[in-house]
Amino acid sequence: YLPDDMGNMSNYSAKAGGLADVSAALISALFDLGGDVHVALPDYRSIINGYLPDFFSREMDRIKARLEDKRIHLAEDRIFYYLTHVYSGYSDINLKVALAFQREVMNNIIPRVNPDIIHCNDWMTGLVPAMARQMGIPCLFTVHNIHTVTATLAEIEDRGIDAASFWNHLYFRNPPGNYENARNQNAVDFLTSGVFAAHYVNTVSPTFLKEIIDQRHSFVEPCLRQELANKFHAGCADGVLNAPDPEFNPAIDEMITHNYGPKNHREKKRLNKRYLQELLGLEPDETAPLFFWPSRLDPVQKGCQLLADIAFAVIQRYWKENLQMVFVASGEYQRHFRDIANFHGIKRRMSVNQFSESLSHEAFAGSDFLFMPSRFEPCGLPQMTGCIYGTLPIVYDTGGLHDTVKHLDLDNNRGNGFVFNVHDANGLAWAIDQAMAFYRLDGDAKEVQIRRIMTEGVLEFNHTTCAEKYIGLYERMLQRPMFP
Ligand code: GLC
Repeated sequence: YLPDDMGNMSNYSAKAGGLADVSAALISALFDLGGDVHVALPDYRSIINGYLPDFFSREMDRIKARLEDKRIHLAEDRIFYYLTHVYSGYSDINLKVALAFQREVMNNIIPRVNPDIIHCNDWMTGLVPAMARQMGIPCLFTVHNIHTVTATLAEIEDRGIDAASFWNHLYFRNPPGNYENARNQNAVDFLTSGVFAAHYVNTVSPTFLKEIIDQRHSFVEPCLRQELANKFHAGCADGVLNAPDPEFNPAIDEMITHNYGPKNHREKKRLNKRYLQELLGLEPDETAPLFFWPSRLDPVQKGCQLLADIAFAVIQRYWKENLQMVFVASGEYQRHFRDIANFHGIKRRMSVNQFSESLSHEAFAGSDFLFMPSRFEPCGLPQMTGCIYGTLPIVYDTGGLHDTVKHLDLDNNRGNGFVFNVHDANGLAWAIDQAMAFYRLDGDAKEVQIRRIMTEGVLEFNHTTCAEKYIGLYERMLQRPMFP
């Protein structure tokens, strides 16, 4: 997280949301499977050094603990701005960072490392596949989310990227007639360029790819949809599900107070709940159903309004049971949930917190259910982590959520969460009612299901499986003849 909130310096690391989690986790899994992995990432420390002391915290240390220094290539920037936005989304400054980063990658890091294959992640790397194609290096481009970011060739070249040598592999909004025409008038679309030039592309879940191709999402630009569809029909696009880092395991998690596994989750999760309630000033009550939302709270993607519409009504409806909600979140939308808690005087039932890694772990361990009412979701990690921690996800049936969560079916011992099919507040309210009906079950029925879900979760949402799929893709790419 880049500084979002100057108050808490310990939260800063080189990450923003699932994209960072996944990239960090994949790197070490590939390395463990024998991959000769090198990593390029922006040197955020140098970007904001003039303003902050050393902010590189845990994520960077974690990567460093797993890979030797010589395999980590930090692209230095000479952009001295105070960054107020996380890197994942688009903003002027993020575009400048992305251009400076790609300049370093193309001019220095790739020539130095001389890789057999390049794996790029998301729009911030969208120009690299075009250069890779020009050089004849196979390149995989992973679409983690849909961002429309554009710049003209002139702007790109002004930042030190010699795009003249590979401009014909870039994706222009309007096909340019010649180089001069391309340079000044037509914007290059970063994400679509990545998809267009890469030898192979993947989304982070099979369903998200299918939804894009089937025109289920109106926010996907027609040019991007078309390029993805072309690649798919040519056998060069796939969906590869992400998996949570193996460190997300309640049996070994160092950030939670009481470790546990499928066999003793009932007692231990209660202790974790008590601890969390005390920590956050919620009413201490081991029997209270606790709902957790770990999220970037992006209002376009994450379905924030759905819960905002009904949060107070849900708390009232289950007042006797003492239903509680915990948010561990980033993004401006937090304010709306804070307002709801303050206005109704329910801070003992609803706790809204700025994201911190450790609090998020505590909340996975101490909660019963997890919200993910996203309108669209390329993959999503918390629903998988939730299953592993015995915190059952409540999700809308879309993208990666569709691929990982099935509605609980007690009669047949199947399913791992609560799935609603109409994206509105009623849909979410219905799923919360379903979760509460489950919570009220007597006897062992509930415990048996949670134990099953936790056990299956560890097996199914497996990191090595994900890395093996990527290695399979790399190998297929390396076997193909290259036509730059
Ligand atoms: C983005 C997507 C999310 C995905 C993550 C990692 O944050 O919104 O669905 O899990 O990238 O791929």
